[in-house]
Amino acid sequence: MMNYKGGVGKTTLTANLGAVAASRGMRVLLLDFDPQTNLTFSFFSIDDWHERIKNEHTIKKWFEGDPPGSKVSLADLVLTPEPVNTALGDSGGRLDLISSHLGLINIDLDLAAHLGGSTTLDGSQRKFLDLHGCLRRALQDDRFSEYDLVLIDCAPNFGIVTKTAIVASERILVPAKADYLSTLGLEYLAGSCNELKQHFNDFAKHKGGVGGHWPIDPTILGVVFTMVQIYSQKPTASQSEYIEEVKESSEITVLSSMIRNSARHFGGSGEGGVPSMLRRTTKDDDVVREFHQLADEVLGALGLVSEGAR
Ligand SMILES: Nc1ncnc2c1ncn2[C@@H]1O[C@H](COP(=O)(O)OP(=O)(O)O)[C@@H](O)[C@H]1O
Ligand SMILES: [Mg+2]
Repeated sequence: MMNYKGGVGKTTLTANLGAVAASRGMRVLLLDFDPQTNLTFSFFSIDDWHERIKNEHTIKKWFEGDPPGSKVSLADLVLTPEPVNTALGDSGGRLDLISSHLGLINIDLDLAAHLGGSTTLDGSQRKFLDLHGCLRRALQDDRFSEYDLVLIDCAPNFGIVTKTAIVASERILVPAKADYLSTLGLEYLAGSCNELKQHFNDFAKHKGGVGGHWPIDPTILGVVFTMVQIYSQKPTASQSEYIEEVKESSEITVLSSMIRNSARHFGGSGEGGVPSMLRRTTKDDDVVREFHQLADEVLGALGLVSEGAR
């Protein structure tokens, strides 16, 4: 999940899409890569995080290694939040998470220093590949092979931490509000991802590959409009016009699923560790229906079997 803009619904989408996939029996891993740590706090209480997680069990610890992963292995950071997994009941699914840390904000600077100066000089190519490919390599650990789906909640920037997530990803989902500011950077984002991909693959080619699955091809799956204002079962005229405009003018695909604005579902503070989509079981809930539709579309595009069963 990626957008340069904050507050567009990335975290809400990651938590709820993950929960819906898990409710269909999938084994889902969520990676919180945003120093705001909101995804983590959707599943763990702040007290619990301070007592058990903060010091030893966050992605910050992993990135602090030089190279990343040398202090602690990624698989050792996997947490299984209890409330959500209890709510998943006998669905057969599971939802695990790797926590973020507020201090992740400083990590980008350290990593940039490690990389040092230009990335185009031959001597830096190995460093570039090692650093940007670190998450991709770590996820090849056997202990991750049990997961059907990994969702990464990125920070609203294109720093090195975010780049490691892009390099590790098969597809990029771009949540956006149907307004000018939230869609402003879409073309730029697509361009940046493409540039990173080419850069990485060129370097890897010269260095004879980097092991594992290569070349990389993290492409944009599409824009998902979130917090859409719905009246009489349709987006308002102005938002609808805007969405059409993005569809026509942008080269980026716009998914046919969208998530409406609903303070009733997402407005409350304190989720109690269970995403809204698992707390609502009524079949005629519009937002639940929209999330299942989104899951069908996303899982379908990823080639993951999607039963659509509730
Ligand atoms: N569909 C929605 N309807 C109403 N409020 C929403 C919806 N999706 C997200 N929100 C709220 O909007 C705010 C920003 O969402 P969040 O998922 O944290 O965005 P981001 O991760 O992109 O910063 C949060 O308070 C969240 O609860
Ligand atoms: Mg967020």
